Amino acid sequence: MSHAEDNAGTRRDFLYYATAGAGAVATGAAVWPLINQMNPSADVRGLSSIFVDVSAVEVGTQLTVKWRGKPVFIRRRTPEEIEAGRAVPIAELVDTNAENANLPPTADAADQNRTLDEAGEWLVMMGVCTHLGCVPLGNAGDFGGWFCPCHGSHYDMAGRIRKGPAPRNLPVPVAQFTDATTIKLG
Ligand code: FES
Repeated sequence: MSHAEDNAGTRRDFLYYATAGAGAVATGAAVWPLINQMNPSADVRGLSSIFVDVSAVEVGTQLTVKWRGKPVFIRRRTPEEIEAGRAVPIAELVDTNAENANLPPTADAADQNRTLDEAGEWLVMMGVCTHLGCVPLGNAGDFGGWFCPCHGSHYDMAGRIRKGPAPRNLPVPVAQFTDATTIKLG
């Protein structure tokens, strides 16, 4: 093989790989928006339920799980916390809607309408501040519930907004107990 042929071969190979590489990149760029568009569809969301074992969650403590890319707070409230939550008159609330996906949209924000069980022990809600989306801190704030340090929003023991710029209660997602110690989200 002459030197010239050798060079040509190398050059052809180089062009071939370069073209293949460009093709792969172009394909990647075209596929990504398609996948993105599919993300919010009901079909895809329906597949993303998760089961959470809450058997180790002690009274007075909270578990945070990541679901659909966001934190979900699962709190097991003490009798005192339940009592405090239930003692608040609806008229004192900033957002008087339950914001509970398991109830009719008109349900009010009574403490009973925020929890998963009738006794009011289990509170499940998205851990995303309704102001601009920070993650509030537990056992904090003026109302003993959650505090969002980003701009100072205070949530009470039922995750209801009580003070600060956040406009709505922390939303309760679709959730249910599937047995005594398992909560299904979604
Ligand atoms: S994001 Fe929570 S107070 Fe602004």
